[in-house]
Amino acid sequence: MCGIVGYIGKRKAWPVLFKGLERLEYRGYDSAGIALLQNGAFSVYKKKGRVVELSKFTKNQNQLSGGVGIAHTRWATHGVPSDRNAHPHLSSGGDIVIVHNGIIENYLSIKKILVGKGYRFKSDTDTEVLANLIEDIKKHTKVEIDEVVRLALAQVSGAYAILVLSKDEPGTMVVAKVGSPVVIGIGKKEFFVASDATPIIEHTKKVIYLEDGQMATIKNSKLLIKTIKNKTIKNPYVHTLKTKIEELEKGGFPLFMLKEIFEQPKSLADTMRGRIVLDKGNVKFGGLEKFEKQLRSINRLTITAMGTARFTGLIGEYAFEELAGIPTKVEYGSEFAYREAAVDENTGLLAISQSGETKDTLNAIKEAKKKGMLTLGIVNVIGSSIAREVDAGIYNHVGPETAVASTKASTSQALLQIMLAIYLGRMRFARGLSKSKAKGILKEMQKLPALAEMILKSANNIKKLAKKYKNYNNFFFLGRKYNVAAAMEGALKLKECSYIHVEGMNSTELKHGPISLIDKNFPTLIIAPIDSMYEKNKSSIQEIKARGGPVIAITSLGNKELENITDDVIYIPKTLEMLTPILAFIPMQLLAYYIAVERGNDVDKPRNLAKSVTVE
Ligand code: M6R
Repeated sequence: MCGIVGYIGKRKAWPVLFKGLERLEYRGYDSAGIALLQNGAFSVYKKKGRVVELSKFTKNQNQLSGGVGIAHTRWATHGVPSDRNAHPHLSSGGDIVIVHNGIIENYLSIKKILVGKGYRFKSDTDTEVLANLIEDIKKHTKVEIDEVVRLALAQVSGAYAILVLSKDEPGTMVVAKVGSPVVIGIGKKEFFVASDATPIIEHTKKVIYLEDGQMATIKNSKLLIKTIKNKTIKNPYVHTLKTKIEELEKGGFPLFMLKEIFEQPKSLADTMRGRIVLDKGNVKFGGLEKFEKQLRSINRLTITAMGTARFTGLIGEYAFEELAGIPTKVEYGSEFAYREAAVDENTGLLAISQSGETKDTLNAIKEAKKKGMLTLGIVNVIGSSIAREVDAGIYNHVGPETAVASTKASTSQALLQIMLAIYLGRMRFARGLSKSKAKGILKEMQKLPALAEMILKSANNIKKLAKKYKNYNNFFFLGRKYNVAAAMEGALKLKECSYIHVEGMNSTELKHGPISLIDKNFPTLIIAPIDSMYEKNKSSIQEIKARGGPVIAITSLGNKELENITDDVIYIPKTLEMLTPILAFIPMQLLAYYIAVERGNDVDKPRNLAKSVTVE
């Protein structure tokens, strides 16, 4: 987690860094800081709290005049959120300043040696240890700062993206990466460095993504990239960014989460755009074309992801089995990476991640590669670590998702997996999918953007419900078949935004224990559309009502029956059973959003969270 930004060039560094931190705040927001190189010394401005706290320092503009600087927004790993643990960190002698995203695993043993040499530490962080290690090596060698950093990195283990400045070499910035992302933007005689491309887009479209084990030295307006093992990288690939700056703004909505919920008619259409071949009853994915032979040989599938992305994987699991006859299992990335899974080279791994930076998911991909599996990705952020790590992949194409709570990416992830299930089902002859059945599903799929639009038109009804239910401390969210995953995802959305305790599960599971919690103060939301599970869900509703629990039902438009046996009903348009979770997600996102607003929470940045979890 954490976001880092660096600037070296002819402008004032402060505004570039400050704006960059605001763009990266989704990565962590416990504390923030900026270091500028001014008149041969470092000035460090840092504060506990949000990035905006740093604007307190801007009263004296002259103070902030340096053209070289580094900045950081933090999600605490080592040491509580505080001014003193905030980055940037200065070395004891003030020669070195550093920002770091990641974890230095062996920092305690290095710290012990440095303390023995007389170094004193002001913070509890692993990062300050690295700053002092660099200073120590600098004192004892006569090499330039990039070589000093390289020697220091040879001694550390862990994951990092770092930016380092040395007061004795004012025209130089050193960048290095192992396990945490870093992008370098190339301007005219100026360079921008950041954890992702969002702080860079408004300055330049030309970027280089550093690979693991690489470092870059920006010196006298020139960029040199080599490996930490000291091998020069000639002609690194320069990407051209396509994201538009408007996509990063709120566009008239009070918060990003609401904007992103309302973008779903478009994001669902963009997910399908150019990929549905209706007359052939098939789907095409440019990124998979070269892998058809390997895909045909897959006879089992493991889906790996975390959080919301994993819940969408549970929808995928049902779809891959139903449409392609491929036995499928959903795994936490964090578990797959470490346990002995019974997989072989005919088991495919499908990694799902909005950010493309989730460390647990990335670890699972690396483990799968060791096991000889074909690795596939469904990723939103173009050029992200997961997108680059997998053998082949599919992009969501839903644009940047900024609110910590995932919304438009999640509906796209579920949709893409059903599309992929059709693609795989159509290429399998034995347990494959007929053209006419596939065509029927695709036709219904194409209606989803319009159906999502219909749900959003009734957002005000959900706003009213939010007022009614905002003060409950507990909720159950229930569903059956494809909607078990939807219930779990709805529960996560409400808990992370509103801080209410919510459990999502299979409706039937309730009577195997959890129903003992039901009383008049414990409401349940049940997803009960008219489908193969409707009657069973109706029985669950009766069981909850018989015990005095309030019930909100999400059901199919036109089904008035549930109004008589529940307290409140939310309607979603009719669609195929396997597509209902995509629609059911939307009212649950709205409910989570409006309840969180009612409770006065910081909805876009809920406490203790970060948008991309780049630590284990
Ligand atoms: O970027 P990813 O999709 O890999 O992130 C996975 C989870 O951290 C993420 O979905 C998280 O659960 C969201 N906050 C949920 O809204």
